[in-house]
Amino acid sequence: MTEPALRTSVTADIVAALPQAVDSFALSLNESPFAPLPAVRSALVSCLGAANRYPEFLPGQLRRMIADRIGVQDDQVVLGAGASGVAMQVLHAVTRPGDRIVLSTPTFDGYPIFAQMARLKPVTVPLDQYGYQDLATMAEAAADAKVVVLCRPHNPTGTLEPSSSVEWFLSQLPTDTIVLLDEAYIEFVASRHRIDGPDLIRRFPNVVVLRTFSKAYGLAGLRIGYGFAAPELAAKLYAMQLPFGMSNFSLAAVAASYDAETQLAHRIRRIVAERNHLRLRLMAIGVYSTDSHANFVYLPKSRRPWREVFGEVGLQVRCYPDGGARITVGELPSTLAVLSAVEKSLA
Ligand SMILES: Cc1ncc(COP(=O)(O)O)c(C=O)c1O
Repeated sequence: MTEPALRTSVTADIVAALPQAVDSFALSLNESPFAPLPAVRSALVSCLGAANRYPEFLPGQLRRMIADRIGVQDDQVVLGAGASGVAMQVLHAVTRPGDRIVLSTPTFDGYPIFAQMARLKPVTVPLDQYGYQDLATMAEAAADAKVVVLCRPHNPTGTLEPSSSVEWFLSQLPTDTIVLLDEAYIEFVASRHRIDGPDLIRRFPNVVVLRTFSKAYGLAGLRIGYGFAAPELAAKLYAMQLPFGMSNFSLAAVAASYDAETQLAHRIRRIVAERNHLRLRLMAIGVYSTDSHANFVYLPKSRRPWREVFGEVGLQVRCYPDGGARITVGELPSTLAVLSAVEKSLA
């Protein structure tokens, strides 16, 4: 039997090795730079004492809370382990191995992996030189595909397709091609640029809108995401809802986050302001970044590989095989560290 002292030290080692809530150099995963809000923490702590109990068999309460917030019926919402879990649930529900899935390239790293897990054939469409998705080519490719993924804003470039282009794109697709409209970063988008999701799914019953609590809500570690769609499609997706799959911690954290909406909105404004600051300072020193509407900026390939530029000062950013780099927006110390590394590389 393991000695208690040894067990304790294993726990201590594991916990000590977990990522820190605040780390101005951790800029590779588009996480929130802020530790959870006090109200969210205390809701989580309140749940701990009953961790011996299962959550609801199917996540009815969480579903209702989210449906009320976004303005759809309960039966139009599906839940998952992050938007990733929901995306996988959609692929399992609507595809068969060998079907095609249309993706931009590059895109969120998860999508090529999900496609492989569902044994789909990915059809990839390159972004244009400014980091926008090529909607015309994607629509053409989607003619014989089962699923097409449109990220708005896009990851890694942060670009935002105008809502009129999205409407046009949707109108071009066969009605049995399922569209994953990925809005993982929508809270960072100015309200005038947002699409009315409930109205969109009424008009396009082949669209699933994906959202997450991992980004603006700062709950990446809890793995909470959701999707919403027209009732018929949502029923098909909810049939794949994993029993006991959403923890009571998710329920408590979402409730507390909705209650703390004003504080969260303030945090979002700070990140958006810091993103604009970083982009302007980069522009001032002659470094182009794409027009990002998310909590990250994207620098296309430059003379000196970004991997070296940021790697040598210990900044963790996401570098792409084509030489581009995606940098999560943090607080001012992160911005200054990024600028200092870039300035040094230009000197
Ligand atoms: C565009 C996009 N979609 C979905 C996700 C998945 O996020 P999660 O599974 O944490 O909700 C991410 C994460 O980086 C993302 O960038």
